[in-house]
Amino acid sequence: MNRQIKIFDTTLRDGEQSPGCSMNIHEKLEIAKHLECLKVDVIEAGFAMASKEDFEAIKTIAKSIKGSSVAALARTLSKDVDAAWEAVKSAKQPRIHIFIATSDIHMRHKLKKTREQVLKDVGQIVKYAKKYCSDIEFSAEDATRSDPEFLYKVFETAIRSGATVINVPDTVGYTTPDEFYSLITKIRENVSNIDETTISVHCHDDLGMAVANTLSAVRAGATQLECTINGIGERAGNAALEEVVMALDTRKDLFGLTSNVDTTQIYRSSKLVSALLGTAIPPNKAIVGANAFAHEAGIHQHGVLSEKSTYEIMRPESIGLSENKIVLGKHSGRHAFDARVRELGYNLTKSELNRTFVRFKDLAGKKKVVSNLDIEALIQSKYTEVTGIYRLDRFIVNSGNTITSTASIKMINGDMTKEEVATGDGPMDAAFKAIEKIIGTSFMLEDYSVHSVTSGKDAQGEVIVKLRKDDNIVVGRGLSTDIVEAGIKAYLNAVNKMLSGATTQEEDTNAKKTDNF
Ligand code: KIV
Ligand code: ZN
Repeated sequence: MNRQIKIFDTTLRDGEQSPGCSMNIHEKLEIAKHLECLKVDVIEAGFAMASKEDFEAIKTIAKSIKGSSVAALARTLSKDVDAAWEAVKSAKQPRIHIFIATSDIHMRHKLKKTREQVLKDVGQIVKYAKKYCSDIEFSAEDATRSDPEFLYKVFETAIRSGATVINVPDTVGYTTPDEFYSLITKIRENVSNIDETTISVHCHDDLGMAVANTLSAVRAGATQLECTINGIGERAGNAALEEVVMALDTRKDLFGLTSNVDTTQIYRSSKLVSALLGTAIPPNKAIVGANAFAHEAGIHQHGVLSEKSTYEIMRPESIGLSENKIVLGKHSGRHAFDARVRELGYNLTKSELNRTFVRFKDLAGKKKVVSNLDIEALIQSKYTEVTGIYRLDRFIVNSGNTITSTASIKMINGDMTKEEVATGDGPMDAAFKAIEKIIGTSFMLEDYSVHSVTSGKDAQGEVIVKLRKDDNIVVGRGLSTDIVEAGIKAYLNAVNKMLSGATTQEEDTNAKKTDNF
């Protein structure tokens, strides 16, 4: 009988601390719903005291999620615990997650507290939180650089005061698999009341060992694993959920463990997080990268054709990657389209289906065949839709190596239409300047990336832009078989988000970083 481990997802908290990764409340809720479908055991929804937006996002997620516990992070301060509880109290399974640093370096230079003060804080705050909530997680920040003897005392105190989970973070990604194995083993041997609690680990990837360290801790007896989708997170990120889960699944023979995660939701969750944060997944990324299941070398292709297991240790279907067969064309009707969307595992509302079908018809008119990857890209584009402000009516772009690029853009805003012409350094620059003339304000283009959804000359291109206005950064995404149109749509998508206030204050993100970590 396999032992069960728990997956604690912190994409919405630690993941959101990665540079340039901030989401608004709707985006966070969308991700939380996907995490629930993925069947993670715990969703860490945010850090309630960090900002009003974080607090509201946690509260909204707590109300809507039923299948996973919802946790909120707090420092060892009663005002933090009050806010965390206020944010998660309506969850079906609420959890308060309290942390304080336990390494000498953090206590001396960041907290300016002695060991005795930290021990006292831990006992008091866990007891305080326990009055609100039965499920309390306690994290010893920078545990891997803490004096082990002190760490045992801290954990003993937290458990005695009511902590149901004790978390051992490798906050700065410093440890190695062997060392971490031995730390977890020693914690099990030296913390007298350890059997009353769950041991959790939380590994950062600064030296590229987050997943290896996590798996090593599992072998030493950790039963809750903290991770993020696509491994996003502070600095180099956290252990990637898809890697940890698929390693445990693929090597059941070695680990003898199972998780509740529905692995067939992995690919979809990864695409969603990448789309909403505007962070591309490297093609060679384990499990979810575009090349993860591609066999390029002739000798490999030959092997896979005669017997898949020669070079494939996992099946693409196990992460929800459908065969990219040609499915639909311009004569395909509504029923065929709806059935395909369901088959791909998406549960769209009627109006979302209608809008996606219109986009599909438009695409089918331009492309001979529409593949599953195309349809998934069309579905994903719903996450970046902001309706109601500016819509693109038409555009004309003139460019070449002997002329100055010129763009003429006509946009609709309610009953009004406006057209402007601008020149620029290349077609995109000209088009973006024309848009800015129409809306009467300009933005800083922080990032611009293009990739194709499928191969072939008529492939859809996806453009992701990040725009900045003062402290606000927004991500926009555009999809089209015409790369200039995709760029204009992405820019407009970001502009609409910016103007509709669907933004996240980068100031808040920075506050989280400097105040607390
Ligand atoms: O990395 C870390 O130490 C953390 C804690 C708050 C768990 O994110
Ligand atoms: Zn962390």
